[in-house]
Amino acid sequence: MERKEHLKPFAFFAAIVAMIGSFLFGFQTAVISGALRFISEQFHLSLAQQGFLVSILLLGALVGVMLSGVIADALGRKKALILPSVLFCIGAAACALSTSFTYLLIGRLLTGLSVGIVSMTVPLYLAEITTSCLRGRFVAMHQLLITAGILSAYLVNYHYNASGLWHNMFLIALIPSFLQLVALPFVVESPSWLLSKGQRELAYTSFSKLRLDNHWQQSLVSLASFAKGDERKGIFSLFSFPKIRFVIFLGILLNMFQQITGINTLIYYAPKIFEMAGLDGPSDSSLATIGIGAINVLATFLSVTLIEKMGRRLLLMISLIGMFVCMQLLALQALLSDISSPMTAVIALTAFVASFAIGMGPVTVVLVSELYPMKIRGRAMSIATCSNWLFNYVMSFIFLDLLGLLKIGGVFQLYAALCILTILFVYFYIPETKGKSLEEIEASLH
Ligand code: BGC
Repeated sequence: MERKEHLKPFAFFAAIVAMIGSFLFGFQTAVISGALRFISEQFHLSLAQQGFLVSILLLGALVGVMLSGVIADALGRKKALILPSVLFCIGAAACALSTSFTYLLIGRLLTGLSVGIVSMTVPLYLAEITTSCLRGRFVAMHQLLITAGILSAYLVNYHYNASGLWHNMFLIALIPSFLQLVALPFVVESPSWLLSKGQRELAYTSFSKLRLDNHWQQSLVSLASFAKGDERKGIFSLFSFPKIRFVIFLGILLNMFQQITGINTLIYYAPKIFEMAGLDGPSDSSLATIGIGAINVLATFLSVTLIEKMGRRLLLMISLIGMFVCMQLLALQALLSDISSPMTAVIALTAFVASFAIGMGPVTVVLVSELYPMKIRGRAMSIATCSNWLFNYVMSFIFLDLLGLLKIGGVFQLYAALCILTILFVYFYIPETKGKSLEEIEASLH
């Protein structure tokens, strides 16, 4: 349906403030890859301790995302953004000032909790404060800021590589964390959440701060009826309704496929893969890693500009076909020549990340923010995003074992096969949501 909905500059301000959380998500997940070597030297860490230091953030994120739905539905979207912002500040300060391995672990755990919470609450907030024709773009911007955070971490790591000042790598994260904390009290609460709590007057105020048009006034009655009513309490009760169960499984599977097709193997282990591919030494491979980070940002930016024109399904299909071709290439090259040509490996890896970034990265989070009815949106999104962190953790946990078992060529071949499975899943099950309001999507799916 054609609408003339327009946002006020204040809506962009609120979105930018929320998205500082997305930037920190990317930064904090990637910064450890550069800091680890120096931390291990200083605290004489064993391999197991190093592994624990890396994975404690993922574990924290898993707990954070589990809690995020209940927090966002019960306390509101704004409080669910403020909480991780506080934790981001404490976590970054604890890491930057840490004088022992234990402090560092506590800092990373708190950071992980915040990363988990923002991975759900930022896209949720963005989807609810925007209009239907801009929603895809806004939520895809969350992914763009994650990739910008990852790239910034690679650059910071590169900068401190010679001096080894790892405390500074974490200290830098305090600047955006603090800025966000100061700005968050000024953003508005999501009008949809206010309506779901029956706070019509406040919802009215929120809408008028966000919108230039007054289209929302005409649909206020229908919005309110979508937002309140049969509120299904508790996470498990969501599974007792067949239609909701189906859409929750769609979110769980989409997030699972996003992770098991190999993206983080490349993001986390890129330098190692480049070295195995024959690039000379750590500085060549960390430059190549920065290149990967930059391509990730650029291709995600392209996706932000295309998502409202091409729609979700087409972008996903293009993305997955590209990912499949690159993985297949990598697998073939590895099987035939044990990755003896570094250039082909670099090109195929880069093209894989670009293919992911154009679709599977941003579109997954966009769809998850659109598929669920207002009454249960926070909790349902938290379940779907939980699957993302769970499979992220599992994949990074089993990667080295898989490598031992299948060799690098076999691992790439497995990822390529999983890309095919994902193509079939998207083709048969994923609906197109472009241009529809959240209420129209809800009416068509539930
Ligand atoms: C994924 C992360 C990944 C990142 C790469 C996100 O959508 O959830 O696991 O590291 O994209 O850009």
